[in-house]
Formats: sequence, C-alpha cells, structure tokens
Amino acid sequence: MNKPSLLLVDDDRRVLESMADWLRGQGYDLDTAARYTDALERLRGKTYDLVLADVRLGDGDGFDLLEQCRRNWPSAQVILLTGYGTPDGAIEAIRAGAFDYLTKPLIDDELLMSVERALSQRNVITENSNLRAQLDRRVGLDHVVGRDPHMMRVYDVINSVADTRATVLVTGESGTGKSMIARAIHRRSSRAKGPFVEVTCGALPETLLESELFGHVAGSFTGAAGEKMGKFLQADGGTIFLDEIGTSSPAMQVKLLRVLQELKFEPVGGTKTYEVDVRVILATNEDLAQAVAQGRFRQDLYYRINVINIELPPLRARVSDIPLLAHTFLEQVREDARREVTGFAPDALVALERYHWPGNVRELQNVVERAVLLGKEHVITLADLPTDVRGATNFLVDRSAGTQTLKEALEGPERQIILSVLESNSWNRNMTADQLGINRTTLYKKMKRLGLEDGHPVSI
Ligand SMILES: Nc1ncnc2c1ncn2[C@@H]1O[C@H](COP(=O)(O)OP(=O)(O)OP(=O)(O)O)[C@@H](O)[C@H]1O
Ligand SMILES: [Mg+2]
Repeated sequence: MNKPSLLLVDDDRRVLESMADWLRGQGYDLDTAARYTDALERLRGKTYDLVLADVRLGDGDGFDLLEQCRRNWPSAQVILLTGYGTPDGAIEAIRAGAFDYLTKPLIDDELLMSVERALSQRNVITENSNLRAQLDRRVGLDHVVGRDPHMMRVYDVINSVADTRATVLVTGESGTGKSMIARAIHRRSSRAKGPFVEVTCGALPETLLESELFGHVAGSFTGAAGEKMGKFLQADGGTIFLDEIGTSSPAMQVKLLRVLQELKFEPVGGTKTYEVDVRVILATNEDLAQAVAQGRFRQDLYYRINVINIELPPLRARVSDIPLLAHTFLEQVREDARREVTGFAPDALVALERYHWPGNVRELQNVVERAVLLGKEHVITLADLPTDVRGATNFLVDRSAGTQTLKEALEGPERQIILSVLESNSWNRNMTADQLGINRTTLYKKMKRLGLEDGHPVSI
C-alpha cells in the first residue's frame, strides 16, 4: 500500500514546520506550502489524498483553495484549519465541501482522527467513482446528464445514500432536475423493484392532500364516496416522493412530522393505524431555512427532513454541462422528429452557454426541442433560438439615454460579462480574475461597484 499523500498549507512557518514534523512522524507522505500560490503549484504537480489548509494565507485564503480543489482535484479531501474557530465558519466550510474544520493549535488526536476519517471517506468516494465510471463513461448517472464538478458530487451523494433508509431532501430552482434525482435515488436503492409514488403536495388543497397521502374511509368528508387507499400505503416497500413540500399548511406539517417519525398514520375519518415501510424523498424550490426563520415552516419538521440535502445548482452555475445537455436533448427529439439535424452552429452554442436560464434544464430542453422541430438547416442556428436566448450573445448598449457617460454606458455590458464568467467558474474569484485578465482586487472592486454579490452556489 502506498502511503497516503498529504499537503499542508500554512503561512506561519513555525506552525507549518512543527505540524509537518509531527504528521510525518505519524507515517504520512507530507509536502508543505507556505503560500496559496505555492499550494496550487504543488497540487498541479502531484495527486494528493488530503489537503490541510489554513484559512488565512498571506496571498489567498483557505476557502479559495478549497474551491480550487473541489473544481480541479475533486478526489482530494480538504480539511480547513483556523486560529479562530466559529460555528459559522465551520458550517460554511462543510457546505463548501470541506471534510472538516479544525481549530489550531492542532497537534493531537483530534487532528489525527480527522485525517484518518477524511482518508477513509476518500477511499469510499474513489471506489464509488470507479463504479460510476464503469456504469456510464459518457455522461452522468442513470438518465441524469452532466459532469460538472457540482453534479459529480451530487452523484457521489446519491451513490452513498441510495441504499439506505435515510430521508433525502432535494432542493434547487424549478427545472434543475429534482424529480429526476428522486427517481435516480429510488432506482439505485434495493427498493428499486418496489413502487415509486410521487405526490405533488403544493398542487392540492389541504383536505384533499391529506386523503391523497393517507387515504380515507367511506363518507369521511363531503365528496369522499368510497374508501380510498392513500399514497403512503401504495408506496409500502418502495419510495414516496413528496414534491413541493415548502408550501404545506401548518396542520399538514404536523401530520407529516408524525408519519416521518413513526411511519404510522390513520386514514381520514378512520381509526385503524397503518404502519408502512417507506423511504421518503422530499423536494422543494423554496428556501426552507428562510421559511423556518419566518415561521412558515416547522423547525422540527425541517430538522427531520434535512438529514441529507442534495442541492442542485441552477444551470447557469454549471455552464460546462450546457453543450452536453443540449446534444442529449437534440438526440432525443431528432429520433422523434425524423429530421437530419447534426448539431449546433458555434454561435448558437455560445448563446446557449451565455443565457441565464431562469427555467434551468427544463427550459433548455424546451428550447432545443423547439429548435429541432422548427429549424430548417442541418444544424441549429442562432435564428432557431428564441429572442431572449439569442440576445445573450450581444452585449447591447442602451443608447436611448443620450445623457449617459461612456463609463455609465459600459456598466451594463461589463456587469453581464463579469457575471457570466463568475457563473461559469462557480463564483471562484481567482479563476474569474484570471480568465478576465484582471487581478483579484480589481475584480472585487468591480463586483462591488456593479452590485454583484457573492452568489456562490452551495451544493452538498
Ligand atoms: N441533469 C439532467 N440530465 C438530463 N435531463 C435533465 C437533467 N435535469 C433535468 N432534466 C430534464 O429537465 C426536465 C425538468 O427536470 P425535473 O422535472 O426533474 O426538474 P424539477 O427540479 O423537479 O422541476 P420543478 O421544480 O418544476 O418540479 C425534465 O424533463 C428532466 O428530464
Ligand atoms: Mg419536480
């Protein structure tokens, strides 16, 4: 067995030396870097199993290094070290994909345990990735297309939790693929042969929803003619997928909490208690934490369902997947349309990549279908795309206001350019600055002036 290889990054030489000595003494193959840029240099030259990085580095910070690792070296685990531990920092670090967040000084069992756990988790992930690679080399997982690093991490989570009973909460904007992910989890579980039952909770008024979920006995309310079997019972031995959970009423939330806790319920108007073996997956495009803060969603229910959260990034935050998705959808309709369309003209593809896709993957799918059905050429051209999407290629200056100075007039296009590069780099400011050929400080100043807040998308 090879020794695990670690990279330790800290700008305080004394800390760096003493931790390095100690870790080498524990049998790890360890390299050090005292600067952010040196760390990147090292990462480019060698494959590391684990990176231990201080949050404050003279020429950068640990969070940026974490982002870089997630993007470019996803198989390396990252542990962030800090002189000033705060719970917020820890949560931020874990959400950004760190394995752990530890407070210095740190030459003890806590460090060792964290390192060991990180390394063993890495092994699981590597095995899963190999498995995944065998299953589908080309595109993604099951029918889910995409190989953006965000999506790769989503697949890792799916693979790790699919075959457990864990409740999964899938969040993301409309059209990002939440329902699709729920089905993929079911298909990859040992319940795959059992039923997959989907209920769109937001679409039904409360009384109907209750009888839909739990069933009712004859005559239990006006209109309840015969007896009805609820979806929970139908899903016995399989998976129930509760979509649009964010809008359920307070009374409904109480009932959901009970059924999630005990997997027991009574049909509306009935006294018999049923018990089922059901795996629950929920989805919402609402910010549930905010709904809890505003008192619209029960905190206990939120904790109960937020065990494993898969957050799907909006399509504009995974621009690198757009061509792949577009081609997949083209293939799908081409068969139906029986038309000879071979691909996309370069400027059409650029427009697809630049557009901000408020309707996410669903919108892209519709745009491609429409273009295949209505287009006349052998390739899809810019003219086959809707005006909004087409407009994404040219940064038009608003000439109507003749009083604008040149600087003011350039702000709109400048903002649009910076935003699109930020989004295509998942809001990594170093990479964005590099790509735009400006330094980081300039980028920060521009972002501030143009009102571009850090919308770094968080995914599990
Ligand atoms: N990664 C993907 N690969 C291939 N197809 C996708 C992907 N993501 C979404 N789609 C397709 O896009 C459409 C929308 O996906 P889905 O219904 O899962 O989104 P959703 O997040 O559940 O939307 P809503 O919030 O409206 O319920 C579906 O037709 C789905 O097949
Ligand atoms: Mg859905």
